[in-house]
Amino acid sequence: MKTFFLMMAICSIVLAPGAEFAVAAAVDVPDTMAERVKPCVACHGSEGVAGKDSFYPRLAGKPKGYLFNQLRDFRDGRRYYRPMALLLENLSDEYLMEMASHFADLKQPYPPPEPASLTPGEAALARRLIENGDSARNIPACVECHGKALMGTPPFIPGLLGLPRMYMVAQFGAWRSGGLLRGRKADCMSEIGKQLTVEETNALAAWLSSRPVPERDFSVATLAAEMAQRCGDIVRSSAE
Ligand code: HEC
Ligand code: HEC
Repeated sequence: MKTFFLMMAICSIVLAPGAEFAVAAAVDVPDTMAERVKPCVACHGSEGVAGKDSFYPRLAGKPKGYLFNQLRDFRDGRRYYRPMALLLENLSDEYLMEMASHFADLKQPYPPPEPASLTPGEAALARRLIENGDSARNIPACVECHGKALMGTPPFIPGLLGLPRMYMVAQFGAWRSGGLLRGRKADCMSEIGKQLTVEETNALAAWLSSRPVPERDFSVATLAAEMAQRCGDIVRSSAE
């Protein structure tokens, strides 16, 4: 968690050039998508692949509705990261959707898997949650929503492969902290995130990040009705 806050502080410094650019853009720069996403590139990398390190998540190829929901959440204070909230604060839903589409359509190769750093017990724990969940705590199997191959159920549910371990650790920490940083309005994922222990989420992040991303698109087309109901608004955006 300490690293997480340190990185947030570093990011606030990085933001400065982007903020200047946004002001300049209002003057006479043409409104092309390349111009729109220029402030984003400083952190997220030019092809949306990833930034300088795993703290800056990849955007390329993530499902459009998911990216849109995140942008809206940052703008409206439901997911907290100040440098982005400032960049997004005056943007319309339509504008956010166009940026979400842009990044969703970028097809870029994934990084190789991270070296696995878990004991056999931790790997078994991760696989049990992924395949079976934990009915005693009303936690469905991760595959129920994230797809059999863990490559997501577009347009709202992202894949879990190809994400850096430290990024996932930070996201689980954000949900666990009671929705202060992510999931301020309770949703199906934040409810699960709050229940998982640190041992479980460390094992999940280590196991998931050590899996290669399949070359073919293995995302799942439809979300089971029971899961859709559980997720409610999050998988039923008005903008879709
Ligand atoms: C100062 C660095 C910075 C800038 C500039 C920035 N971002 Fe981000 N972005 C981040 C960080 C860090 C996160 C992860 C924050 C977290 O999880 O709390 C993030 C998260 C995201 C996410 C969620 C990704 C996911 O998988 O959940 C999206 C979408 C996103 N940014 C889009 C954008 C767009 C579009 C722009 C330009 C308008 C932008 N960002 C500008 C640093 C930045
Ligand atoms: C009931 C459906 C559901 C189940 C079950 C579920 N998730 Fe999720 N998950 C979601 C949704 C929806 C999102 C997107 C949340 C948002 O839009 O903020 C998500 C997002 C995530 C993210 C963030 C990815 C990113 O790019 O930032 C991670 C990590 C994650 N889930 C891990 C898991 C793990 C591990 C499990 C199993 C223990 C699991 N999920 C089970 C619905 C589910």
